[in-house]
Amino acid sequence: MANDETLAQPGRRDFLTQITAAVGGVGVAAACVPFVASMNPSSDVLAKATTEVDISHIPPDGVHTVPWQGKPVFIFHRTEEQIKQMQASNGVLDPATDKTRVQQPQWLVVVGVCTHMGCVPNKEGPGWVCHCHGSEYDDSGRVIRGPAPKNLEVPPYHFVDDSRIVIGVA
Ligand code: FES
Repeated sequence: MANDETLAQPGRRDFLTQITAAVGGVGVAAACVPFVASMNPSSDVLAKATTEVDISHIPPDGVHTVPWQGKPVFIFHRTEEQIKQMQASNGVLDPATDKTRVQQPQWLVVVGVCTHMGCVPNKEGPGWVCHCHGSEYDDSGRVIRGPAPKNLEVPPYHFVDDSRIVIGVA
């Protein structure tokens, strides 16, 4: 008889099934929160992943090199003349407009690691020269002479204000 009563109340049975599933779902979600949170980088890791740099002291035509994630990053304060020259060219071996490589025309920010075999290029005359095998880069960090195959990498960065940038986060 009890079975007949249960069979006669399908709405009640469905309701209890749904409530049980909902409570179980909430429990699983609550149990997952600490696991997901543990996968987020710690504040220590984030601090090493980003570098804040005061660029106010870098004179026009000056380069400041800062470490970021174990690599040098060149911050180059370009002059009006250098900006004009770079905007008039699209690069040679790895074409790219200057506009796509800078956020503000007077500031070039690039990883100072040659894209051939990883040496650190020197700022010499217009652009950079890598003395390991002779690659050259222009004042937009674009490769103009190999064997390097690619332009110097532009890292993720953003301006905090006119005098500070943070490297590591776009
Ligand atoms: S590592 Fe720079 S040219 Fe080879």
